[in-house]
Amino acid sequence: MSAVRPVMCVVGARPNFMKMAPLLRALAAHAPPLPALLLHTGQHYDADMNDRLFADLGLPRPDINLDVGSASHAVQTAEVMRRFEPALDAHRPACVVVVGDVNSTLACTLVAVKKGIPVAHVEAGLRSGDRTMPEEINRIVTDQLADRLYTTERSAAQHLQREGIAPERVCFAGNVMIDSLRLHRGQAPAAAATLVAHGIDAALVGQPQGYGVVTLHRPSNVDNAAALRALLGVLAEVAQRLPLVFAMHPRTRAKIEQFGLSGLIDPARIATLPPQGYLEMLGLMAGARLVLTDSGGLQEETTALGVPCLTLRSNTERPITVEQGTNTLVGADRELILRSVDDILAGRGKTGRLPELWDGHAAERIAADLWHWLATRAHGPG
Ligand code: UD1
Repeated sequence: MSAVRPVMCVVGARPNFMKMAPLLRALAAHAPPLPALLLHTGQHYDADMNDRLFADLGLPRPDINLDVGSASHAVQTAEVMRRFEPALDAHRPACVVVVGDVNSTLACTLVAVKKGIPVAHVEAGLRSGDRTMPEEINRIVTDQLADRLYTTERSAAQHLQREGIAPERVCFAGNVMIDSLRLHRGQAPAAAATLVAHGIDAALVGQPQGYGVVTLHRPSNVDNAAALRALLGVLAEVAQRLPLVFAMHPRTRAKIEQFGLSGLIDPARIATLPPQGYLEMLGLMAGARLVLTDSGGLQEETTALGVPCLTLRSNTERPITVEQGTNTLVGADRELILRSVDDILAGRGKTGRLPELWDGHAAERIAADLWHWLATRAHGPG
């Protein structure tokens, strides 16, 4: 390929960053290199949600920032589309690479395909079966539209086939998020250091029973006062068994304040922290007895770390973490949550095994495939 046009790599929100960082590295390391442009939609913009992760992951400054910020789903998606179009016109990339399932993923895919620019979707084919999740809608539409689909687990290809997507468009590449985890695991600070950095006594995580880590941000868990109150009540009961470190998403913090639920969090048993950097979060998880979360990424990261994960959802788009990894779906079921915590503390937690191709080399496989795919396309670069 001569005079190669760049690949435009899109990120928007926190869970995109750890997926794109290894991809950018792999595109640059490919022989010959694939030139890349990094475009940030600005869906996440706070220092805690954005800048810290860019620094931790060694992500370059974005070449283009659309600065869309927060809004309703419709407005946020529309605003990304409106601002992405001129960026595409200006740069005419060979293809657009999107990752994950956030609103920016869908918005940029929709604009690119209508302009005849091919789209590659990394982390394709995951399905929770729950259409009330905004991410599920983003996944379904993005996969229908994308030209090249990279999957993280084998179940994904079955979903795509069921939705009429030709198997030739699909490539099982493994999990780029685990590339990041393996690269950075050694740099992650211990939980005690992270607590001390926030002025919290490290003794909280130094007790014989260890500590648990909590994250919570799904609208279904935090946007409804009764649901959030019930979950915080269960967390208080869990905290009687082992202390918890709660890394709180801005949305969750705002809802707890709005609903007047702060009193349910006892600071003597639950350390509340702002959203953590990538390395801090890795260190917190790696040293934990268990993780309680409704995040998608943490389900996979805990499986890779061999730490039991109790997922506060009734479904998962990442079933391999339940079948082979350390994940258990507990929903908001108080009895099940407490029983699962007791099992883990009694040494009966899942240890799991590493899923196929979660080996730290997924991004290299994607870069190699992308190169061949672009080279063989009739209207490819060059
Ligand atoms: C988004 C993704 C979700 C992902 C999550 C990780 C979609 C549909 N959802 O959800 O899949 O798991 O990111 O965090 O794309 N806010 C800030 N600062 C920021 C960003 C957001 O304070 O930098 C607050 C704002 O009040 C905003 C709210 O968080 O309204 C929600 O942000 P938004 O990007 O719409 O969705 P998330 O809940 O973060």
